[in-house]
Amino acid sequence: MCMAACILLLAGLAAREALAQVRGSAVGFAAGTTGGGSAKPQYPSTLAELESWLSDSTPRVIMISQTWDFTNHQGMTTEKCCQNSCQPNGQFWIMDTCDAAWVSCTYANAARNPIQVGSNKSVVGVGSSGYIKGRGLRVINNASNVIIQNIHFTGLNSQYVWGGDAITLDGADKVWIDHCKFSLIGRQMIVSGWGAAGHVTISNNEFDGTTPYSASCNGQHYWVLLLLGLKDYYTFVGNYVHNVSGRAPHMGTDYTKSEIIFHGVNNYFKNVGGHAFDIDVNTYVLLEGNYFDNADTPITSASLTKSSLYSVVTVDDASGCTSNLGYICEWNRLSNSGSFPSSRSSEALSKLSAHKSSLVGHYGVADVPKSVVANAGIGKI
Ligand SMILES: *[C@@H]1O[C@H](CO)[C@@H](O)[C@H](O)[C@H]1NC(C)=O
Ligand SMILES: *[C@@H]1O[C@H](CO)[C@@H](O)[C@H](O)[C@H]1NC(C)=O
Ligand SMILES: *[C@@H]1O[C@H](CO)[C@@H](O)[C@H](O)[C@H]1NC(C)=O
Repeated sequence: MCMAACILLLAGLAAREALAQVRGSAVGFAAGTTGGGSAKPQYPSTLAELESWLSDSTPRVIMISQTWDFTNHQGMTTEKCCQNSCQPNGQFWIMDTCDAAWVSCTYANAARNPIQVGSNKSVVGVGSSGYIKGRGLRVINNASNVIIQNIHFTGLNSQYVWGGDAITLDGADKVWIDHCKFSLIGRQMIVSGWGAAGHVTISNNEFDGTTPYSASCNGQHYWVLLLLGLKDYYTFVGNYVHNVSGRAPHMGTDYTKSEIIFHGVNNYFKNVGGHAFDIDVNTYVLLEGNYFDNADTPITSASLTKSSLYSVVTVDDASGCTSNLGYICEWNRLSNSGSFPSSRSSEALSKLSAHKSSLVGHYGVADVPKSVVANAGIGKI
């Protein structure tokens, strides 16, 4: 007999089911991404089960309600790594060649072997308890329709460059990465290439570069976002990018015939002891309503000559959007930061205007710090 206890238990389960879904829906280029849709939410019970649910071809809603720690799951490698110049706590390199001193290093294998994610998946953190530690995810081999929401990715060999990437998109489409947090990652927090990343929305995430193992010797992570996919459409909105020193993001490459279309709006960049945007060729970029606070180099000077960039600084830049996009763009704002010149590429606007329905609206840039800090990262939805 268990009357009261069972009723409580059932009520608890019902509450868990009610919470157990993706919240909201993607705006921008990944709009329409449904992930596992209305599949019954499932809670994995082992690392192996989590991996198999992520990788198989069944549509699934996978709930992450605890820390899944893969650190010791595939053993360790001890070999020699290349020291860097920052002592004692630089980020050393897992590499075959070294022009500094070799040192012995031990790293976890799992972090360098991400879990493959199949099509039609939602992987969703519960409250603020969803952690995937020691291993990343990769959406590859033409997988599509994937939602990754409210999960903290952390602990991927952060002391080593090439220690592991958190999320890889390579031959993907329709991916929504929302309200996640990234910290203590060895290599990139998000990386795409050489295949297409497709239509991607990166929204309301916290990229926390605070690290004792910095490649730039300043307590900040250098390898934040590297976007090199073949044919990519990114909406980058509402993200909190802080205590980072580079590639935040880097996009574009001349290695492939890639084409990257990028709308960056209402993001908050704080404490950048290096550069935020570094934009190479084959890119069509609109930056509006972003707030740079204590950012040494909001955008590298090479970006201005290599990319097709529309960045909004003056009143004329803002109203210059109107003829192509049908609205007045929001200006980017700087506080205690390096320069962020205006740039008015008509190629950028005309590429973006071909995707008008995928452009997300902005709010006033003055509200960005407060609003983004309150909303970005895990446990906020
Ligand atoms: C994903 O869902 C779509 C739409 O229901 C379906 O056409 C496709 O075959 C699914 N993909 C896989 C790998 O199950
Ligand atoms: C992905 O799709 C393209 C186009 O349909 C196809 O040529 C390619 O072989 C696919 N790649 C994989 C890994 O399935
Ligand atoms: C982030 O950087 C700022 C400025 O360098 C520093 O004051 C702050 O302590 C850093 N935050 C963390 C969590 O280390």
